[in-house]
Amino acid sequence: MIDRGGINITVTAIFNNCFYIGCKSDHMDEAAVKRAQEHFGKLLKKQMERIDRMRSSGGQTDLSKTDKIIIGVCGGDGIGPYICASARLVMEHLLADRIKSGNIEVRTIDGLTIERRVEVMKAIPDDTLEELKKCHLILKGPTTTPKKGDPWPNIESANVAMRKELDLFANVRPVKVPELGVDWIFFRENTEGSYALGSDGIDVNDDLAIDFCVATAQGTERIIRMGFEHAKRTGLNYVSLVTKANVVKTTDGKFLSTAEKVAKDYPEVRWDDWFIDIMTAKLIDPYRRSDFKVMVLPNLYGDILTDEAAQIQGGVGTAGSANLGTRYSMFEAIHGSAPRMVTEGRAQYADPSSMIKAVAMMLSHMGETEKAKKLEMALDVCCQFERRKIMTGRSNGATGDEFAEYVMETIARPDLERVWNDHVSEAMASRSK
Ligand code: IPM
Ligand code: MG
Repeated sequence: MIDRGGINITVTAIFNNCFYIGCKSDHMDEAAVKRAQEHFGKLLKKQMERIDRMRSSGGQTDLSKTDKIIIGVCGGDGIGPYICASARLVMEHLLADRIKSGNIEVRTIDGLTIERRVEVMKAIPDDTLEELKKCHLILKGPTTTPKKGDPWPNIESANVAMRKELDLFANVRPVKVPELGVDWIFFRENTEGSYALGSDGIDVNDDLAIDFCVATAQGTERIIRMGFEHAKRTGLNYVSLVTKANVVKTTDGKFLSTAEKVAKDYPEVRWDDWFIDIMTAKLIDPYRRSDFKVMVLPNLYGDILTDEAAQIQGGVGTAGSANLGTRYSMFEAIHGSAPRMVTEGRAQYADPSSMIKAVAMMLSHMGETEKAKKLEMALDVCCQFERRKIMTGRSNGATGDEFAEYVMETIARPDLERVWNDHVSEAMASRSK
């Protein structure tokens, strides 16, 4: 008996031990799952609140009826303050009358630097955000976006945070290469997709990491409608919608089904849908790419495709970007802050043309169509055609401020339009040869 009891006890002990181990791991996973569920629940609540805000958001601010337009200038990090300052010279030159009359105020907004953001451990420090919210328009230099393993803590991107905080839902990026017949405009969704919760994924346990992708009826509709409106207003009458809805079935599926619905309101606009992989290929297909005009796409695909498109135009340094919402708008370059140029002492030679292009987009957004057109023509002449001052990124090229001067001189040329037209016709002719 005693033996049996002993055996019994031993068996029980072994059983208990196994049970304990099994139970322990089950127990641990259960806790991890519960934590993840709670985290997910909070994210859902925040997204529902965001939907409520989108539902009740007011209409577009009419800048032509605003007594005093406030433009905030945020230099950002790395080469940001340098190229932003050069672009500001051009902006202040073109808006000199309105600045003088007090109809426009240009403000410097400090505090969006990586050092300050790390100091307060926030994507945008509260006081900086408060200052930004007092502006109508923002000209923003590139900011450092840390990733795991960088010397900086892995805080959220200031760009992404600003787009979300100010509800800048449309990221509009034009790309033009006349000699290739390329004249594209991308409408990238800017507040949802894989970016919306990019800093809110879950490490469920050491083995399992989950990120989230967001699509809402309101968020997808407003960007798609903007693309269709543009196609209709400009007479381009053609929209290409880009997703991966055959694989990412729920969120990309919603993007696509929303487009099907919105398209019904624009019978004059032809539209088609593409998958991101084949569209990436088509942009470098010389026989096909000039057919595309207006492209509408979710956040991450828009990020990637617009870098590719900008490269075709001459590099990411040549493209500007408008981040539009109903209350605020922000204009920026599409590239990063190139910190190496600063550490190598070359920041003053960084090419400001992307930021100057962003200024042109700002002018056009505020209704200064003539000035915007002149600036765009001058940029084409300076960057693509005449190239009297060349940016090399080094001391054998022009500085950003010298380039800005060159652009301003070109704007002042009485023959600008003719010169630009001649260059464009020449470029087109060389294409058809
Ligand atoms: C852009 C940039 C940003 C983005 C980075 C800096 C967060 O690449 O504006 O395209 O990914 O949106
Ligand atoms: Mg990008």
